[in-house]
Order: sequence, then structure tokens, then C-alpha cells
Amino acid sequence: MITLVEVSARLSAAAEERALRALGFHDDDCADVALAIAAALDDDEKLADIALLVERLRESVGRIGEEIDPLDHPAADSDWRGIGVVAMLALIAAGDDVRAFHRSRGISAEISDHSLADLGQQTWVHRRTYGAFGVHTYRWLATAFTGNLYWLGRLQFNIVRHGDEWMLSTHIPESGPLTPAAVDDAFRQAAAFFAEHFPDYPTQSFHCGSWLLDPQLADVLKPDSNMVRFQQRWTLDRELGSGDGDAIFFVFRRRGDVDHAALPRNTSLQRAILDKIDAGGHWALWSGTTPQAPFRDSDASAAHAKVGELE
Ligand SMILES: CC(C)(COP(=O)(O)OP(=O)(O)OC[C@H]1O[C@@H](n2cnc3c(N)ncnc32)[C@H](O)[C@@H]1OP(=O)(O)O)[C@@H](O)C(=O)NCCC(=O)NCCS
Repeated sequence: MITLVEVSARLSAAAEERALRALGFHDDDCADVALAIAAALDDDEKLADIALLVERLRESVGRIGEEIDPLDHPAADSDWRGIGVVAMLALIAAGDDVRAFHRSRGISAEISDHSLADLGQQTWVHRRTYGAFGVHTYRWLATAFTGNLYWLGRLQFNIVRHGDEWMLSTHIPESGPLTPAAVDDAFRQAAAFFAEHFPDYPTQSFHCGSWLLDPQLADVLKPDSNMVRFQQRWTLDRELGSGDGDAIFFVFRRRGDVDHAALPRNTSLQRAILDKIDAGGHWALWSGTTPQAPFRDSDASAAHAKVGELE
């Protein structure tokens, strides 16, 4: 079990501006994380909770493809200095363990840092959603902090079991336009990265489960929009359930009961999302797959042809 002294030492080191920036924290959040760390260092009960969660994360590092949810624990589920902040400090303190795992797989420090910067990204999203410091998506963040999420170019990927094979699940952080060229580049990087660093989990396909794959979006967006072109890459296999909550969250950064009249209607997407729900319709989450082969070096000419087709 990690000692409180070790947890304190890790948190103290992480409170440095440079370390916080490396984890992707934005300006306001850097100040609040530093304050939360200072408060935790003065509170043995809180440190014990953090240590317990760090231990659960450490035990889960590298257990790719297993059903693990290390931050599904009452110690993480408090509103101390903000939602998810105890879990956030545990993730920060577990950073050394996941970085060691990355090194053991030959992953560069640059990709290691970029991948863990999802913590700062999620904290920024939380502030925009709730207007306060915190990170309600802390359970999702355990994916990165146990060594199974890699941020490669425009997209993030993790290894998942889909049916009877391993696949690279694709995630789209809010970080600028989803241009076809950026998606091609990320797919190419991912195909090479996982073949090199995770040869024991061979994958042939990308997977995506998202509100972005709802075919109804193509009825309301321009045919040459990035989102419609992204959809066209995927062969859908099944509907995963209601997408209304995700559509509202990803387009408006609101959760729960939301007064639609108070939401902006500036873009065609914002208007379309609200119009359908207000008319009694629904958005859906869909699961789809697409092959990696065109993005492999060995088939570079096919990839080149594909870029030409999409641009
Ligand atoms: C996915 C994403 C990058 C697409 O953005 P994009 O590349 O700009 O999308 P498009 O160019 O296809 O946009 C088409 C229209 O929708 C609008 N739009 C796209 N994403 C939007 C968003 N999140 N909020 C509001 N409007 C958005 C565009 O402004 C454009 O509107 P217009 O026709 O009035 O000009 C963006 O929606 C995003 O960052 N989403 C959050 C992350 C997410 O949803 N991830 C998936 C989680 S499962």
C-alpha cells in the first residue's frame, strides 16, 4: 500500500506550475488544483482517501481489456473542494505509476504527457458545464491513468474488446474542427502506435460508440460538414440507446434538466439538436467500425487515395 508520505511527496511535486501544465490544466484550474493539493497535504483523512484510490489505480495499471472501474468507490464520490476533486488528486498522484507503465512499453514521454493531459481537458470541460472547479468524469479518466488511453493527433484511442476481437475505440475530444485530414492523420498514427507498443493486443479495426454516429445528423447538417464526413467512415452495427443527454452535453456543455429556451441557437447543429427534442423526437448513440488497413504504412497508397477522396 502506498504510504501517506509517498502520496504527499507525489502531490507536492505535482503542484509545481510546470507539472500542472503538463497534465493539461488551464489557467483557473491550475490555481484551484494547487489550492486543493495544499489543503490535502494538511488533512490526513483526505490523504488516506487519496492513498486508497491511488492504490486501486496502481493495481489496475496495464490491465487492458478487463472490466475495471477503480474510481467507482465511495472515497471518490465526495464534493470536497468540488465534484471529483479527491479522485482528481488520486489520478495526479498515480501519474508516476502510469508513466512507468508507458516507459515499459517504449512509449515516448511526449505521448505519455499528451495522453494524461486528458485530465486538464476534462477539468476544463467540467468548469464550462458547471461553472466551477471539479471533474465529474473522473471514472472515465481512470482509462488514461491505468495506461489504456492514448491521445494521438486529433483523436484519442483505447483498446477494447468488441465481439470476439480487440479493436481501437476512438474518442473525439473537443479540440478544434474534426477535419478529414486530421482524422486520417490520427488513424495513421494510431495504427502504427498500437502495432508497435501493444503487439500483444493485435487490432484490425477502429471502433466508435457516439452520438456523432447518429445517421439523423446527416439529415440536418451540410453534406460536406466535418461531422457528416466523419460519419461516412463507419459501418454501423447497432444502436446503443438514447443520445439526447450526450447531444446536449457535447453541444451545449449542460447536464441534467436543461431549459432549452435558455440555450444558444447560433449554429445549424445547435438548432437541429433542440428542434428535434422539442418536437418530441430523439437522438441516438450508435456503435460502428471501420478497418485500419487503409491507414497502415504497408498500404500507404490506399491511404493516400482515401485522403484525396475525402478532402
Ligand atoms: C465533433 C466536433 C469536433 C465537430 O466540430 P466541427 O468539425 O466544427 O463540425 P462541423 O464542421 O461538421 O460542424 C457543422 C455545424 O455544426 C456546428 N457545430 C459542430 N460542433 C458543434 C458544437 N460542439 N457545438 C455547437 N455547434 C457545433 C458547426 O459550427 C457547424 O455549424 P454551421 O453549419 O452553422 O456553420 C465538435 O462537435 C466537438 O468538439 N464536439 C465535442 C466533442 C464530442 O462530441 N465528442 C464525441 C463524444 S462521444
